[in-house]
Amino acid sequence: MSCTKKRISSISLVTLLAVGLTGCAVSPTDSGKTVLRLALNQNEEHPSYIALDHFNDYLQEHGAGVTIDVFPNSALGGQVETIQLVGEGVIDMTTASGSQLENINDDFIGFGVPTVFDDIDHQMNVVQDPELTSELYSSMEESMGITVLGGLTQGNRSVHTSNIQVQKPEDLHGMKMRVQESKLNIAIAEALGASAAPMAFGEVYTALQSGVVDASENPVVVYYTSRHHEVAPYYSYTNHVVGLDFLLMNKNALDALSKSDRRIFEDGWEQTWKEHAELFKEQTDEAVKAAEQEGAHFSEVDSDAFEQPLIKVRDQFLVTARQKELYDQARELAR
Ligand code: GCU
Repeated sequence: MSCTKKRISSISLVTLLAVGLTGCAVSPTDSGKTVLRLALNQNEEHPSYIALDHFNDYLQEHGAGVTIDVFPNSALGGQVETIQLVGEGVIDMTTASGSQLENINDDFIGFGVPTVFDDIDHQMNVVQDPELTSELYSSMEESMGITVLGGLTQGNRSVHTSNIQVQKPEDLHGMKMRVQESKLNIAIAEALGASAAPMAFGEVYTALQSGVVDASENPVVVYYTSRHHEVAPYYSYTNHVVGLDFLLMNKNALDALSKSDRRIFEDGWEQTWKEHAELFKEQTDEAVKAAEQEGAHFSEVDSDAFEQPLIKVRDQFLVTARQKELYDQARELAR
């Protein structure tokens, strides 16, 4: 059975897993190279697809014995499912939002709360610093068989709605806002003034289009590449969090790399996250222009009106000593 890149329903996913896809994971190509299957919930225009595809180019150019095959568009499921599939070794790699990892190990909240990161450069300095992160990144190895390779920025997340430009939290009263599936994100939606509707990313376009939700929040890059501007044309710069994805890998698949492949892999990953951060910055300006040309409206908000509610959420969610430590260490690098 060949692996498909088309979107598959969860029922057919289960079937595929039972009968076919397991046979595809970490399988040899005709050239004898091992294929690492990587799940992504963004499309081919998004910086994550471009940079991860270049990760594979790097491996090939440097003669590694492995290839990375990126499956975009949530083709292998939403992140809740793909994290599980990586843990089970059915697929090898996935990107996952920190919001998802918070549900597995709540230490990740230290890097998920509002105000932890100032901007993309600060965020990358923190999340690629091995001294600060190695314990966190290996924290799911024993329990789930998953290693975190490092972080990929999501950029600044802001609110967009189908009908109004938002200036202050009151403007969102009575509105349902789609958020990522975590308690922290529900609290952030409420701090922004809305009521929260958690759902997987792949459902957001239709939910906005059909009026199941009135609002959503994502960085400008995603807003444009996923065409959310078509169904929620009012984008307001709440900048409530600099969001963070992680690249996860099945630990056995990582350990199975030969010594020389491992070295190439690590160098390739470093090039990948660096390129990704640069692409993200470039695409942010381009996305605003392109979305405006297609009818979207961008506006500033009264940021003072959002500040205290968001700080309150941060303080409510930084509960454990470890969460506070990660937050403080991240803030230390901003200075
Ligand atoms: C960003 C992020 C994804 C996440 C998505 C979401 O686009 O890169 O990992 O799933 O936000 O809003 O769910």
